[in-house]
Amino acid sequence: MSRILITSALPYINGVKHLGNLAGSMLPADVHARFQRARGHEVLYICATDEHGTPAELAASAAGQDVFTYCQEQHEAQHTIGRAFGLSWDWFGRSSSPQNARLTQHFADVLEDRGLIEERTDKLVYSIDDARFLPDRYIEGTCPICAFEKARGDQCDNCNSLLDPIDLKNPYSVISGSRNLEVRETRHLYLLQSRLQDEIRTWVDSKAEFPALARSIANKHLDEGLIDRGITRDLAWGVPVTRGGQPRIGFESKVFYVWFDAPIEYIAATEEWADANGGDWRSWWRTDEGAEGVRYLEFMGKDNVAFHTVSFPATVLGSGEPWKTVDVLKAFNWLNWYGGKFSTSEGRGVFMDAALEILPPDCWRWYLTANSPEHSDSAFTWDQLVAAVNRDLADVLGNFVNRILKFCEARFAGVVPEGGTPGPLEEKLFAEVSARIADITDQFEAIEIRKSAQALRSLWVLGNEYLQEAAPWTAIKTDPERAAVIVRTAINLVGLYARVSSPVIPFAAEAMALAVGESFPPVWPTADAGGELSRIPAGRPVTAPPVLFRKIEDADIVAWGERFGAGD
Ligand code: MF3
Ligand code: ZN
Repeated sequence: MSRILITSALPYINGVKHLGNLAGSMLPADVHARFQRARGHEVLYICATDEHGTPAELAASAAGQDVFTYCQEQHEAQHTIGRAFGLSWDWFGRSSSPQNARLTQHFADVLEDRGLIEERTDKLVYSIDDARFLPDRYIEGTCPICAFEKARGDQCDNCNSLLDPIDLKNPYSVISGSRNLEVRETRHLYLLQSRLQDEIRTWVDSKAEFPALARSIANKHLDEGLIDRGITRDLAWGVPVTRGGQPRIGFESKVFYVWFDAPIEYIAATEEWADANGGDWRSWWRTDEGAEGVRYLEFMGKDNVAFHTVSFPATVLGSGEPWKTVDVLKAFNWLNWYGGKFSTSEGRGVFMDAALEILPPDCWRWYLTANSPEHSDSAFTWDQLVAAVNRDLADVLGNFVNRILKFCEARFAGVVPEGGTPGPLEEKLFAEVSARIADITDQFEAIEIRKSAQALRSLWVLGNEYLQEAAPWTAIKTDPERAAVIVRTAINLVGLYARVSSPVIPFAAEAMALAVGESFPPVWPTADAGGELSRIPAGRPVTAPPVLFRKIEDADIVAWGERFGAGD
């Protein structure tokens, strides 16, 4: 048994996430966590809301709430919706926790002690009417590159250029609209990443298991040369800037930059978990206290990779302390929405709460796994969703389960029949199923998301093929013992399906397990199908579950297209 630590990128607090966020971090992390638990490993799956920074402050003021109440409510909302999707977090924390404030301040202290943080003077935009500096998104104006009139201080949404707020033309304050602005000098802390260039490159090179996408993004930044990075901002909401436990002089109205404290929350959230459950967080994170044996996997969208291969490692390696670092970094491309992007700020696409109003979680989990934006971007389409639900789940899996259990109820009084011995058809089935179990296991182990789904689907298909060939409805008239073997074998297939499908469709898997009297959560099967398909003994009562997957109808698609505005 090994110890496996899993984190998924911490979702921003500014509203319920869309399906793209789910598909590109939280869902695949959950699938892997469930798989590894079933394998018998000790798994800790940690996530949290990322609550600081200008996006949180701006979203709160747009909602007419103070930022503290806003974050509290939105954290609750994201927690509830995540659970409804079956996300099996061991802890869903908050980057605004006291644990994270302490740990963030600790890292800043040790980095400064080691000469890796220094104070510098910055020229920043100051709003005279608002009596404050305007960081990042608090300032808008005309893009100096494409002349778009609503460019944000940090980035232009029209041409995607990264901007420096002082370069905007005709700038105004997002808070008051005031154009009464000037450039003033103020002090900020800089993390001297340039000095960590070699150490980070060596570290990236040592990570043999980084997939290509993660490695190429890291190398691009390293080849361009790491630049020193401001890690404080002129904001009220965030981790206060301290030195040795005391407020830092001159930094009373500043906090650490959100991207400095957010990844530290992976560790701090584990501490939150330990504080709440009496666990030992240090044995997961300190290599001098047990974490050297931990395998650590991170799941995230590709826009997050630089922060996890350069910035966060700079914090952790720069501290000189024995922290556990990531072993496998699984990065995802984009799930696109009809030619464009899902967008939180513009409310475009399907969001997690609305998704559950129209379909059960397993339908989404299956669709987003089978069509994962894994090795390239993928496009959400209603047609693909229909195919995934109606064909894979309803016609192939649901139909098989229902057919065999209904038959058992009708012909064997709902009791697994005894008698007979497996014949050539069963031997053929066992050989095929053994190969499929091995393949499914390999794909899950390799975190090949789409291939895991393909492997599962091809196992499901075998059930229908077997029933078609074995034809128990014919056998029962001429050879009841033969019919008993077929029904027993097929019911065992239902039990096997529940086990291997459980990472992806946990709700249906549990219903299948219950239907055939198996326990849940399951233990992963061996690749010995002969053994695995004779676990459920004759004499056990079984019941057909209520419809496992309802089919999507044409009228649904019309209604959903109108509701979510597909295609525009
Ligand atoms: N909130 C960021 C996003 O949604 C991800 C932060 S990941 C963390 O893109 F590790 F930094 F927390
Ligand atoms: Zn622009």
